[in-house]
Amino acid sequence: MADPKIIAVAGATGAQGGGLVRAILADPAGGFKARALTRDVNSANAKALAKAGAEVVAADIDDVESLNRAFEGAYGAFCVTFFWAHFSPERETANAVNQAKAAKHAAVKHAIWSTLEDSRKWVPLSDNRMPTLGGNYKVPHLDSKGEADHVFTDLGVPTTFLLTSFYWDNFIHFGMGPKRGPDGKLALTMPMDDKLLSGIAAEDIGRCAYGIFKRGGEFIGKTVGIAGEHLTGGQMAAAFAKALGQEVSYNAVAPEVYRSFGFPGAQDLGNMFQFKRDFQQVWVGNRSVEFARSVNPALQTFDAWLAENKDRIPLD
Ligand SMILES: NC(=O)c1ccc[n+]([C@@H]2O[C@H](COP(=O)([O-])OP(=O)(O)OC[C@H]3O[C@@H](n4cnc5c(N)ncnc54)[C@H](OP(=O)(O)O)[C@@H]3O)[C@@H](O)[C@H]2O)c1
Repeated sequence: MADPKIIAVAGATGAQGGGLVRAILADPAGGFKARALTRDVNSANAKALAKAGAEVVAADIDDVESLNRAFEGAYGAFCVTFFWAHFSPERETANAVNQAKAAKHAAVKHAIWSTLEDSRKWVPLSDNRMPTLGGNYKVPHLDSKGEADHVFTDLGVPTTFLLTSFYWDNFIHFGMGPKRGPDGKLALTMPMDDKLLSGIAAEDIGRCAYGIFKRGGEFIGKTVGIAGEHLTGGQMAAAFAKALGQEVSYNAVAPEVYRSFGFPGAQDLGNMFQFKRDFQQVWVGNRSVEFARSVNPALQTFDAWLAENKDRIPLD
């Protein structure tokens, strides 16, 4: 039997990369081996990955030399950046460029770059429907990813561009779940009007990435988009109500109201939701539930995700 192909996974202790490492480990006969990248090989998360059977190596996406070493000998590389760790679009683009350069240096046969649309292609900086942020961006955490796409292509890295979707896990970790109003009733607040939001269980992103690697070269040079379901705020509120066994309404606020909420990243996220609302055909059209299920038959629906996770969602 041929040696298993090594997939070097950035963000292996996090959501996207973690899902990919777990998917590889869950399929020992699949012909792949997980190499988990982490800044701290001694952290509890890193040790848990090693115990589960992953090769764990030190790398920092700010440091291209460390990535060169970590990608060495790998068949594939899963490349992802961490905007919310630093809120800097320039650093995010630089981190993507580092991974593209390391993928080139290691001559990987297949890279998956976890990217998002550069909103400025549809909303130029001169368009005042939403404020320009940081002098050069409309939706910084989207734009800085999309801006880096061409680097993978320019360097000749055999790349699949993976457009991800809003994690339903944001309802657990990002404070975006339904909250009680003064009347004591739960409401889900999002500036999406009646438009569809493409969502996914974060764990399914890594599973889809694994399915894409398993299909060999089929999606190299292509952009593929994944979602678990496309749902309106009203549909999500109804699903919450059913899962939680209590009333949950949908509170559709205006994007400018959302931007004014004041939490870190509120302006970026307000612009993001507005972009998804105003360009629903582009955003939803770029993401296919059918494609996601074809590479990851275990793809979860929102109801299935809620059934598993409803008790982890902070409501008060
Ligand atoms: N939330 C959403 O709905 C959503 C949707 C689509 C896309 N995204 C994008 O997903 C990206 C984040 O991915 P994620 O959610 O998988 O991340 P995550 O769960 O926050 O995990 C990040 C992991 O990356 C590692 N890390 C952080 N800084 C690093 C660095 N400088 N070098 C190497 N590793 C580093 C950390 O591991 P160690 O401490 O072990 O190094 C951490 O465990 C963001 O850019 C975000 O915009 C999010």
